[in-house]
Amino acid sequence: MVCIRTATIDDLLYMQQCNLMSLPENYQFKYYLYHLLSWPQLLQVAEDESGRIVGYVLAKMEEDPGESHGHITSLAVNRTSRKVGLATRLMMSAHDSMDEVFQSPFVSLHVRVTNKAAIHLYKNILKYDVHDVEEKYYADGENAFDMRKRFRKPTGSSEKGGGGEGKKPAG
Ligand SMILES: CC(C)(COP(=O)(O)OP(=O)(O)OC[C@H]1O[C@@H](n2cnc3c(N)ncnc32)[C@H](O)[C@@H]1OP(=O)(O)O)[C@@H](O)C(=O)NCCC(=O)NCCS
Repeated sequence: MVCIRTATIDDLLYMQQCNLMSLPENYQFKYYLYHLLSWPQLLQVAEDESGRIVGYVLAKMEEDPGESHGHITSLAVNRTSRKVGLATRLMMSAHDSMDEVFQSPFVSLHVRVTNKAAIHLYKNILKYDVHDVEEKYYADGENAFDMRKRFRKPTGSSEKGGGGEGKKPAG
């Protein structure tokens, strides 16, 4: 059984290793540390039975000129642990914290336009919408989808948005 939990400082190196094995977008250790110190509730890890970190989500709060909102900096699951729902659970956990701890109205992320697995997860499972296309967003020139999911209606309305898709599954 793999558990999803909030990351601690001891997990950061393993998150970085998982990132290096899974994605071309890599970060210095101090960038992980900056996230942990600033928004500790928004770093989630997947830990297997033997205590190994097999996936992570690294997220933050973005202070745009507009609304302050959650942003997914990076998400990855080790190759051997994929397709069993870990990314879905990691993302839902980060969504819950953004909504409950930071009252984030929505969450944003960037994804390569060719990343079919991730786009399926965001669009069909987690109900993100494509907000925009950012030309040549990545270092190799590939375009990115700017995707967003609303947790609540824009400021001025107290009504919550969506059908509760961002909530943790029972158990
Ligand atoms: C994208 C990624 C995080 C998905 O992780 P995961 O733990 O396998 O995802 P889940 O098991 O929660 O799967 C969620 C959905 O995506 C589907 N999916 C996962 N990998 C897939 C693939 N390679 N091709 C097609 N669908 C895929 C699953 O089948 C599931 O959909 P379903 O319920 O309709 O069957 C993982 O493939 C990964 O780490 N990739 C490399 C890093 C990356 O691309 N990160 C995202 C950057 S924006």
